[in-house]
Amino acid sequence: MEKLRQKIEKRQALVGVVGLGYVGLPLAVEFAKVGFKVTGIDRSKKKVTTINAGRSDVEDVASSTVATLVASKKLVATTSYTAIQKTDVVIICVPTPLSKTKDPDVSFILSAVKGIKKHLHPGQLVILESTTYPGTTEELILPILEGTGLKVGRDFYLAFSPERIDPGNKTYRVKNTPKVVGGITERCTQMAELFYEQTILEVVSVSSTRSAEMIKLLENTFRSVNIGLVNETALMCDRLGIDVWEVIDAAATKPFGYMPFYPGPGLGGHCIPIDPHYLSWKLKTLNYWARFIELAGDINANMPAYVVRKINDTLNRVRKSINGSKILVLGVAYKRDTSDVRESPALDVIKLLQERAAQVQYNDPHVPKLSLDKSALSSVALTAKLVKEADCVVIVTDHSAYDYQWIVHNAQCVVDTRNATKAVLDNKDKIVKL
Ligand SMILES: NC(=O)c1ccc[n+]([C@@H]2O[C@H](COP(=O)([O-])OP(=O)(O)OC[C@H]3O[C@@H](n4cnc5c(N)ncnc54)[C@H](O)[C@@H]3O)[C@@H](O)[C@H]2O)c1
Repeated sequence: MEKLRQKIEKRQALVGVVGLGYVGLPLAVEFAKVGFKVTGIDRSKKKVTTINAGRSDVEDVASSTVATLVASKKLVATTSYTAIQKTDVVIICVPTPLSKTKDPDVSFILSAVKGIKKHLHPGQLVILESTTYPGTTEELILPILEGTGLKVGRDFYLAFSPERIDPGNKTYRVKNTPKVVGGITERCTQMAELFYEQTILEVVSVSSTRSAEMIKLLENTFRSVNIGLVNETALMCDRLGIDVWEVIDAAATKPFGYMPFYPGPGLGGHCIPIDPHYLSWKLKTLNYWARFIELAGDINANMPAYVVRKINDTLNRVRKSINGSKILVLGVAYKRDTSDVRESPALDVIKLLQERAAQVQYNDPHVPKLSLDKSALSSVALTAKLVKEADCVVIVTDHSAYDYQWIVHNAQCVVDTRNATKAVLDNKDKIVKL
């Protein structure tokens, strides 16, 4: 234990990061920046080539930063797990999606752990960062790693530390977002804590890997449930003829006991639509029905259909139907100012419109191409002609690059799912808000 402690403190510990995506790359870069030698292991050859060529494919990480770290040999990428042999610390940041039946798909974690197992050696610290259900580290990973004959807490250390990265957030980055850690044993927790303290400003340790796993799921379930509540509030306000946005803004003036969440076209990204299902799945195995999660999931999943109903009603007012109408979707990323389209509600909105025979085009300054189930679309240039010719313009993602005044001025009508046109004062009658 003492040897690894010294290596970490002197920043001589060799670090391996398995999975160099939205989570793994920023983390690898952060540790390399403070002096650790980091090897990134990713099964994607393309990703490995990109990084070794000094380029970043993650928006929050500048290519110049990757280039400097690669040139100074602080960061290198490979597809081979043999690199684990030399590493003192291994962090797993692989995807944890859902299967088609919405069950947890932990196959990426399993394949990463099996890759690590072959090279596990005494004195190594292994940390899982992928979001997963409580019990994964202890029930799934520990038996595999102890299958080598090495004993946790004595020969190697195992911990869970949830990743909290918020892509596109300019204020809270890896370094200044407090990091939660929980180890299998106390020694494991201490070692993981020491490791993260080398670069992250605040590290919070908890009593177990299960607690650490649950903390992440509470955070994301909290968001999902509150978004579900506010989406339902939007549906209720619509029936009552009340502007939900005005209600939320005014409620948010209460300085205590209230926190604003905003309605929208549905959930997106790799976290909020997925993570709560990891928790409800685990609870089902214990004969418990996680009602809030299922209810919020249901409301949120139906928001794209609600948006399409709004488009339908808007066209209907001018005696048009979705069938045959030109509909321009603005923004397809799931989140403002990012290029991430994973689980984006725009995909569902477009699909539903196409099923109703609309002529759909989209523009997104961050997403040049979009793959759909059976087809692909390319972002079209945002010209006044395009906006004028659309029977309906639908704002799905409120990117800050858009000039909303100009859009409303040129559009025949606008369905605004994000209150992006809040500051537009002219032509208000053209705007239909969620
Ligand atoms: N993206 C976010 O905002 C975010 C935030 C917090 C937590 N998380 C969690 O972090 C984890 C990773 O998410 P992400 O967004 O970085 O995913 P990602 O898809 O961007 O990146 C994952 C990377 O892992 C690689 N990979 C997959 N299997 C591998 C294997 N067996 N060996 C080596 N490499 C492998 C993929 O090629 C990919 O480059 C997930 O559990 C996610 O829920 C994500």
